[in-house]
Amino acid sequence: MRPVKKIYDNLLETIGNTPMVKLNKIAEDIPATVLAKVEYFNPGHSVKDRMALQMIENAERDGLIKPGGTIIECTSGNTGMGLALAAIVKGYKLICTLSDKQSKEKMDILRAMGAEIHVCPTNVAAEHPDSYYSVAERLNKEIPNSFYPFQYDNPGNAQAHYESTGPEIWEQTDGKITHFVVGVGTGGTISGVGKYLKEKNPNIKIWGADTYGSVFKKYHETGEFDENEIYSYITEGIGEDILPKNVDFSVIDHFEKITDKDGALVTRELAKKEGMLLGYSAGSAYQMIRQMKHTLTKDDVVVVLFHDHGSRYVGKVFNDDWMRDRGFLNTENSTALDLVKGHKDLNLITAKSSELVSHAILKMQRYQISQVPVMEGDEFVGSLDDSKLFQMIISDPSAGDKTVREVMGKPYPIIESNEDVKKVASHISKENDAVLVKLEDGKHHIITKHDIIGALS
Ligand SMILES: Cc1ncc(COP(=O)(O)O)c(C=O)c1O
Repeated sequence: MRPVKKIYDNLLETIGNTPMVKLNKIAEDIPATVLAKVEYFNPGHSVKDRMALQMIENAERDGLIKPGGTIIECTSGNTGMGLALAAIVKGYKLICTLSDKQSKEKMDILRAMGAEIHVCPTNVAAEHPDSYYSVAERLNKEIPNSFYPFQYDNPGNAQAHYESTGPEIWEQTDGKITHFVVGVGTGGTISGVGKYLKEKNPNIKIWGADTYGSVFKKYHETGEFDENEIYSYITEGIGEDILPKNVDFSVIDHFEKITDKDGALVTRELAKKEGMLLGYSAGSAYQMIRQMKHTLTKDDVVVVLFHDHGSRYVGKVFNDDWMRDRGFLNTENSTALDLVKGHKDLNLITAKSSELVSHAILKMQRYQISQVPVMEGDEFVGSLDDSKLFQMIISDPSAGDKTVREVMGKPYPIIESNEDVKKVASHISKENDAVLVKLEDGKHHIITKHDIIGALS
C-alpha cells in the first residue's frame, strides 16, 4: 500500500488508496451489505494504474527497460492508460495495440496521452498474425530497446493487487469481508486480491464475473479449454479466449456468466441509482451479485470492485441509440420511430427501376445493405433483396445486365412512425423482409427483419 501524503511528488504516487462506498438504493433487494471499491478514483480512472506501474517498476528493477525505451502492450484501453502515466512520468515511449471493439473514447484518450495506437481486428484467433497479441509481439521484436509487459502473464499484474488492492479492502472492511466480486479479464485483479484475502481468511468467497463467449467458467468447472465456448461478444474488459497465467483458478470459488445486455443495463442503473458513472464491466460484476443473491445472508459483507470510469463508454452503454441497435433497451411501448432514431438523419439508399441490376448490387455492397427499395420518380415501385439477387445470379449469370424493373419484388409496405414495434413486426413475412416508415419531414426510412429481431430479443 502506498502512503497517503499531503503533497505528492508526481501523479504515480496518487495511485491506490481508493474509497469504498456502500451501495444503497440499487442493493435494497440484496440480503447483505454491499460495498463498492471504486477504482475510477485512480489518476488514470481505472484499477489498471496499479498493475501498469508495478510491471514497469519490476522491469526497471530487472533491467528489462532502459531510459528512453519503448513500452509495447496489448490492452483493452485501461492498462494502456496506466502505462501512459508511467511512461510520461518516467520518460518512455508507449505503443498500444487494441482490438477494434474497444470504445473510440479509449483510443482517443490514449492518443491524447501521447501513445501510438494500432487497432487490430477482434474477430481473429489469438494466434492470427493480425490479432492484438501478435501485433504487439511483432513490434516488440522489431523495435530496439522495447519492453512488452504482456499483462496476461506478467506476475507484476497480480502482484500489484496482492500488495495494494487486497490489503486496502481488508483494512477498509476491518476484516469483515465475506465475498469479493469482480469481472475477470487478465485475472490480475481477482487473483491478487483473492490470494491476499484467502490468506487472511480462507472462508472468504472469491467470485468472478465472466461473459458468454469466454473460456473461464467452463475451464474452472471442468478443466477443459473448450474452443466452442469462444465467440465475439460486446462487453469490454472481461472474458478471454486464452488462459492468462495471471488467472489463479485455485483462489476463485465461482464464475458466473453475465449477458452483454444485463451488464449494459446494470451499468446504466448504477449511474441512475448510485450516481456512479462506471465502465461496462461494473454492470457485469454487480449483476453477478444479483444472480447469486439467493446464497447471501444479512451478515454477509460483499465487496464488488468497479474497474473504471463511465466516461470511456458515453458513446456506447450510455448512448440510447447504441443500446437500441443491439436490442438492449426495453421495447415495451416503443414505436417504429424508435427503431430508426439512430440513423434517421442518414439518406435512404434506393435503386432506380431503370438502373442495371449489376449497379444496384455494387451499391448494396458499398453500403453493406441487404434490402433496397426501388423508385420511379418519387414513387416506391418495388424492392431488391440480396438473397434473392444471389439466387438469380447463380442460376443466370447474365441477370446483372437486366434492369432492376425486370427482377424487382413487390414494394415494401409503408407504415406510420408511431406504429407499435410489435405491429411493425406483423408486416414482415417471407415475401416482405422490410417495411418503410414515413417520417414527419416526409422522408422515408427502412426497418428490416434484423432491426426488429434486435429490438424484440
Ligand atoms: C474495464 C475492465 N474491467 C475488467 C477488467 C479485468 O481485470 P483483470 O484484467 O485484472 O482481470 C479489465 C482489464 O483490462 C478492464 O479494463
